Amino acid sequence: MKKLLELISDEMMNAFEAAGYKREAGRVTVSNRPDLCEYQCNGAMALAKEAKCAPIKIAGEVVEKLSDSNVFESVEAVMPGFINLNLKGDFLADYVKEMSKADKFGMEMPKKQTIIVDYGGPNIAKALHVGHLRPAIIGESIKRILRFVGHEVIGDVHMGDWGTPMGLVMTEIEERNPGLVYFDESYTGEYPKEAPFTVRDLEEIYPTASKKSKEDPEYKARALELTLKLQSGVPGIRALWDHIIYLSVNDMKQIYKRLNVDFDLWNGESTVQYLIPDMVKDMKDEGYAYESDGALVVDVKEDTDTKEVPPCIILKSDGASLYNTTDLATIKERVMKYDPDQMIYITDKRQDLYFMQVFRCAKKTKLVGDGVKLSHIGFGTMNGKDGKPFKTRDGGVMRLEMLIDDIQNKMYEKISENKDMDEKEAKRTAEIVGLSALLYGDLSNQAVKDYIFDMDRFISFEGNTGPYILYTIVRIKSILDKYKASGGKIEACDIGKVRNASEKDLMKALTGFSQMIESASEELAPHRICAYIYDLANALNSFYHETKILTEEDENAKSEYIALIALTQKVLETCIDLLGFEAPERM
Ligand code: ARG
Repeated sequence: MKKLLELISDEMMNAFEAAGYKREAGRVTVSNRPDLCEYQCNGAMALAKEAKCAPIKIAGEVVEKLSDSNVFESVEAVMPGFINLNLKGDFLADYVKEMSKADKFGMEMPKKQTIIVDYGGPNIAKALHVGHLRPAIIGESIKRILRFVGHEVIGDVHMGDWGTPMGLVMTEIEERNPGLVYFDESYTGEYPKEAPFTVRDLEEIYPTASKKSKEDPEYKARALELTLKLQSGVPGIRALWDHIIYLSVNDMKQIYKRLNVDFDLWNGESTVQYLIPDMVKDMKDEGYAYESDGALVVDVKEDTDTKEVPPCIILKSDGASLYNTTDLATIKERVMKYDPDQMIYITDKRQDLYFMQVFRCAKKTKLVGDGVKLSHIGFGTMNGKDGKPFKTRDGGVMRLEMLIDDIQNKMYEKISENKDMDEKEAKRTAEIVGLSALLYGDLSNQAVKDYIFDMDRFISFEGNTGPYILYTIVRIKSILDKYKASGGKIEACDIGKVRNASEKDLMKALTGFSQMIESASEELAPHRICAYIYDLANALNSFYHETKILTEEDENAKSEYIALIALTQKVLETCIDLLGFEAPERM
């Protein structure tokens, strides 16, 4: 289906052409003075100079050509040369009716691509903390949006599961229990199925080990040695590592599940280590990589750079690989396995320069073809009310689970005021609504910006919040339920004509769906969805306050209202699903 603005612009362009001017001048936009008109065209202003004629004269000539338009109810040329437009109710209602019947509300699908979204990026053996919220939920939403518009999308968690942190954890395990079979290289039997520690142990072990290694060079040396043993595949060490991965991944999955986040691939840095030797050799053989101060590097600066872009270091002087070596090998593997058109990375914006280096290096060394798009979405920081990175009350880093608990508990206090709900329903509802507060509070901000985590604002049922959107959906559900209970059939309803101003506003808000979803998917911007549904929810609520719906005596009008709010519900629910949450039955 064509977008509404395209249809209106077509009509206007025909008028410009009929009046003897160039078509392009007829582009129409949503009015920036909604008090004066619904849409506007500024084309006459732009033409004036070229046509050597006053803009108001051009506007007047164009308006004349539209006197019997079936798109516009009113067309007016105003000084100094704007054209103010209002739509015919029937034209608008027909459009919305078509939208309600079309697949995906009439959205036009872009050319299908295969896209990999690399998001989450947790590190094994460390508890997920608040810093892991944004990469998870922004990535999840982007994945859902791209899937919705028809792409083949693969989400990869890309865990940090390799390198010295692993060696550190194992050193501390050995320190506490040196007799474990994993450390006995003469051992030939089966390794135990159960790990000799729990996830909670691991979370305490890592910081302890990290601290010790900073104070004790001998401890650090042992950690490096164990890291090497892991990397060279010593069986006992590998078996121990498997335990660590298994426990950590299961724990992470549970937390991600609470956020409605899930991944297609649970790959990590370890996954692609097998590719590194050949990749490095190729880079050397083809003359891209050279030695500098003992390290192996690839130059990635470009003439047009305004800031210094340092070379990409492929191997350190001791021959060890780095974070970016693994990312490069991952790109190589993804190309081999999935032949993607695009790879998107979601991380903190402090990694901007890093990804610029990696992307340039991947292109230069031909790990990916020129046609493959590599994008990095760098997000800002979640701050506390003091404007500094969010912390626990005693100044520590808050665990992600704790943050989720906090917001859901707060929501429970609110919801349990509703005496109609038993405890079980109130708990479940608080989980759903609490999650909406958390996700919407974050995703409604443009990702690159820092934002303030303001629990009281996020959980409010009023204002630009997740709970407000859910409240609106629940309101519609309740009207529809009552309608059904009194014998009404929603399938039999159809959108009819415009009967009042707030109904017209609601229809106009609905028509923006295609444009919004196109921007959200092209710009990889979930906040576009939030802005759209906030407007839509406001339009629905105004309509609700100004219109008798269930008590309407004219059965025809009643069923048309019902069809309109049922469509609004579908659009809202589609949108919140793209953000990663759902609506409860009531709240
Ligand atoms: N584990 C990394 C970190 O904690 C994030 C990984 C992001 N993804 C990537 N392909 N580098 O910073």
